[in-house]
Amino acid sequence: MHHPTLCAVAVAVLSALPGAQAGLYTKKSPVVQVDAKNYDRLIAKSNYTSIVEFYAPWCGHCQNLKPAYEKAAKNLEGLAKVAAVNCDEDVNKPFCGSMGVQGFPTLKIVRPKKGGGKPMIQDYNGQRTASAIVDAVVQSINNYVVKVEDKSLDKFLSDEEESPKALLFTDKGTTSALLKSIAIDFADVITVGQVRNKETAAVKKFGVTKFPTLVLLPGGDASPIVYDGELKKDAMVKFLSQAGEPNPDPAPAKAKGDKKEKKEKKEKKSEKAEKATSAKPKSKKTTTAEPEPESTASEPAHETETQQAPVIVETALPIPAIHSQEKLIKECLNEKSHTCVLAFVASNEDETAKKALENLSQLAFKHAQSKRHLFPFYEVSKTVDGVAPLLKSLDINGDVEIIAINARRGWWRHYEGADFGHASVESWIDAIRMGEGAKKKLPEGLIAAAVEETTSAATPKATDSATESIETKATDPTAEPETAAEHDEL
Ligand SMILES: *[C@@H]1O[C@H](CO)[C@@H](O)[C@H](O)[C@H]1NC(C)=O
Ligand SMILES: *[C@@H]1O[C@H](CO)[C@@H](O)[C@H](O)[C@H]1NC(C)=O
Repeated sequence: MHHPTLCAVAVAVLSALPGAQAGLYTKKSPVVQVDAKNYDRLIAKSNYTSIVEFYAPWCGHCQNLKPAYEKAAKNLEGLAKVAAVNCDEDVNKPFCGSMGVQGFPTLKIVRPKKGGGKPMIQDYNGQRTASAIVDAVVQSINNYVVKVEDKSLDKFLSDEEESPKALLFTDKGTTSALLKSIAIDFADVITVGQVRNKETAAVKKFGVTKFPTLVLLPGGDASPIVYDGELKKDAMVKFLSQAGEPNPDPAPAKAKGDKKEKKEKKEKKSEKAEKATSAKPKSKKTTTAEPEPESTASEPAHETETQQAPVIVETALPIPAIHSQEKLIKECLNEKSHTCVLAFVASNEDETAKKALENLSQLAFKHAQSKRHLFPFYEVSKTVDGVAPLLKSLDINGDVEIIAINARRGWWRHYEGADFGHASVESWIDAIRMGEGAKKKLPEGLIAAAVEETTSAATPKATDSATESIETKATDPTAEPETAAEHDEL
């Protein structure tokens, strides 16, 4: 199928055009520039799924795509590769032709074959928006994560007993793109599994009390190590690296400072790599990994099929939950608190609540991936002390309510979208980031009263806070500016 907005220019015509223009993407762009020579190494032989844009710099639709494509690249950092080939360059022309490019831009998703061999290549004909592109690519990320149940736990643990394994305990049934990407980084180095909270024997065996929890089993007799850092890819990879170095070709995480670090890592890597790979027999994970849940419904049956704008898939770990009034005040309701997004839920088992929370997780995750400092999102149960009166004073009473609140500046906003779908929540969040739309004034005395109430109540629990997983930077005005909003709102 031909996309109606393709620049209808046959590649053959290109050679007739005079002097190639400079490419659309600069060195600083999150889009990786690929050419005929390095395509094989960077894309075809990668363990990561890529999307590749074949473009010409003079093509208007290519220029129009650029902002969305760069946004997609940022969102996919650490998860997949987003690349572009300038087909206007002489060296690339035959290559673009051999890839069947007949117009610009042409987008192709390149998905590595599990177990090696030629990757599968599929045209992307979906919407040219960042979110549609991200979703399509996320759906094509290979899944090496083994779903582990109580009944399969022993087998999982005894398989190649000496080799390291990692288990993510989660209350989710699906596997996040983040965990998939970690499993790809550590393919054949660390076997990554996922255990659902309802697998009570496994949960008990490892003494897991909260979800998600990541546990590293270094192998042999070494005791399990529980991860207690941030649920972000870089930090998690670093943690797991103590049991084995990741593969040499991670999906690019492009923040500038990172680059040097990566190189150093790579050098260190090569020494250890041999050790890591030779120390153990070939993994069988390709055969034990369950099929991805999303592949049944929405994936085209074969490669050449047109890819529809896909449904949104889960890409993220859950947003943190606030379980106590003290914590709520500490993070969001004291007179120094910056913007917080709070999702109040009557029960997080409720379908609407699940949808809202999962969509918020996706958003938080997208922003985290692109290293944008977004305000924090928290789940807050309506049963937490002080929440009922707070909601009453704001005059909101649904089973699921999302608000943004900035106690320092004395405003709040109510999410009033028709549903808790991804798109409508995202545009609400974007409006807050951009300082658009109406803010409501917080009722007089609400913050002060809240603080007062807990300074007495909180004292005995004060030591708890050191062990909470959520960073407290929000209350420290000297900390790195926490959110884009703080700038945007000025
Ligand atoms: C891809 O994964 C394999 C293990 O399945 C690993 O040996 C190889 O080094 C990885 N390749 C890259 C380029 O990271
Ligand atoms: C996000 O919202 C959409 C509705 O637009 C819903 O269909 C979808 O299931 C939600 N996503 C998740 C992961 O819950």
